Amino acid sequence: MALRLPFPPYNPSCFSSSLRFGARKTKYSKILMTLSPPSKRREINDDMAKQMRTLKVEIKEVTHSMHPEKLEIFKSLEEWVEDNILTLLKPVESSWQPQDFLPDPSAEGFFDGVKEMRDRAAGIPDDYYVCLVGNMITEEALPTYQSVINTFDGVRDETASSLSSWARWTRKWSAEENRHGDILNKYLYLSGRLDMRQIEKTIQYLIGSGMILPAENDPYRGFIYTSFQERATFISHGNTAKHAKDHGDILLAKICGLIAADEKRHEAAYTKIIEKLFEIDPDTTMLALGDMMKKRITMPALLMFDGQDDNLFDHYSSVAQRIGVYTTKDYGDIVEFFVKRWNVEELTGLSGEGRRAQDYVCGLAQRIRRMDERAQERKVKQSHMVPFSWIFNRSVLV
Ligand SMILES: [Fe+2]
Ligand SMILES: [Fe+2]
Repeated sequence: MALRLPFPPYNPSCFSSSLRFGARKTKYSKILMTLSPPSKRREINDDMAKQMRTLKVEIKEVTHSMHPEKLEIFKSLEEWVEDNILTLLKPVESSWQPQDFLPDPSAEGFFDGVKEMRDRAAGIPDDYYVCLVGNMITEEALPTYQSVINTFDGVRDETASSLSSWARWTRKWSAEENRHGDILNKYLYLSGRLDMRQIEKTIQYLIGSGMILPAENDPYRGFIYTSFQERATFISHGNTAKHAKDHGDILLAKICGLIAADEKRHEAAYTKIIEKLFEIDPDTTMLALGDMMKKRITMPALLMFDGQDDNLFDHYSSVAQRIGVYTTKDYGDIVEFFVKRWNVEELTGLSGEGRRAQDYVCGLAQRIRRMDERAQERKVKQSHMVPFSWIFNRSVLV
């Protein structure tokens, strides 16, 4: 999975200007007050000060906001999940594995296979690699995503091997996802084009930092996030597949295409869950959607850091925007897609607050597009070259 803030910032207004213009310490202290018990504050401060440099959104920690009576809804859906969601997974025996697409290290022709890969990789431009590496790093932070789903009340895996259908979905979804970072990492390693140590450091920093997902432990909000996330990654991996084909690397195109197809299945699952929630509890689901849209869906790799670039995520997402791997327009299209998919405009019987959320969400795609046009005009004037440690500090236009 993977979603970024206003990809380049979907929503510049949700950034904390005080963080950008020098009051970082004050805001940062506020965050630590929330996150850490007093006795641990100094230790966490030292560690996080490094890992959270890219932090640009204010964390307001609201937890367990779902009314306890709603837990019953998720319990009552156990069987429905079994029949409608778990069935969207693929059996392990018929799943692709990274090794199906990589040179076999036990075979005679391994080195020839690697050489072929490297010859193809030599023709791929740096800006494409920046996007592919960013996508791979996002996938590699999977431990964070499984953890975050297990913060959702009523659906979490209580024992790490729970037989509840919600828990089985989360583990098996995660097991499918695990192949994404795995195959991209191996492919990029063998390409010989990249500073793998810098990439590995970025992954370690990112997993250490976690992610920002203001779902409030609420599965309504949480599964809205994952629906958006899966669709965003479907689009992003689909675009890296197209670019790889254009650059003549058919194998890489196939790999990115396979990942995109997985993301599409996962999108179908989370989207179905939200569709069901709209069916049985429209007002709460509408309020959750309105709330998540106001907060904006931020990409899980927002906190990425490589030990050098304080604005690494912004730079990576700017490149993705410029070459069309994932754009703010895509974000607007995703909003529009889900408004249609969940029949948001046609919902009836909502509370006053629910109707206000409905109006807000229905007009959002248009507002994002207008904002994007203005942002793009500004961006053209501000474009500049930035070095990326992942490609040995060669510079790329952002
Ligand atoms: Fe995914
Ligand atoms: Fe993925």
